[in-house]
Amino acid sequence: MEIDKIFENNKNWISNKLETDPDYFNQLGEGQSPELLYIGCSDSRVTAEELMGAKPGEIFVHRNIANMVVSIDLNSMSVINYAVEHLKVKHVVVCGHTACGGVKAAMDSKDLGILNPWLRNIRDVYRTHAKELNSIEDEEQKYDRLVELNTQEQCVNLIKTAVVQKAIRKRGLKIHGWVFDVHTGELKDLGIDYDTILEGIREIYHLD
Ligand code: CO
Repeated sequence: MEIDKIFENNKNWISNKLETDPDYFNQLGEGQSPELLYIGCSDSRVTAEELMGAKPGEIFVHRNIANMVVSIDLNSMSVINYAVEHLKVKHVVVCGHTACGGVKAAMDSKDLGILNPWLRNIRDVYRTHAKELNSIEDEEQKYDRLVELNTQEQCVNLIKTAVVQKAIRKRGLKIHGWVFDVHTGELKDLGIDYDTILEGIREIYHLD
């Protein structure tokens, strides 16, 4: 994609928006009240808004390699805190995707330098679910399953945070784990039962 083309696209986008609604940017400038926080992968094929058919102002987005929720990552923790505590989103989604390079890298025994500590978190997911994963012979199926389990574990990590625990209890915040299939474009809901997860981890991770 050429850089100059981006500015041309931008001008076209502005005129298209104004054609259908002359007040569009005045309203956009007034503020945001998104109902959903989306935590997804940085992968260029998994565009948050487009795959959900969402418009500007509807989704608060955080993306990183392999859609991770890491408790000492100030970036994701700030996004989660701001979205849940201040924007008061009603839903938090962790969206993984098939053919995720981050998940694949964590399955390989290779030194990737600065990426090691980040990918370590995915290797920890593998270790937690090693029994199930090692019982899958087909490498592709194993890869797909690790994508699902990683998404699920990031939902658990979300539920380990005080701000999410409080919001679930006090105002019924909902947590979702989805996987986007890059081969079909389909979104799959993993049906994360966050109430049971919260109940299960309460003894150790109860912060509120
Ligand atoms: Co990815």
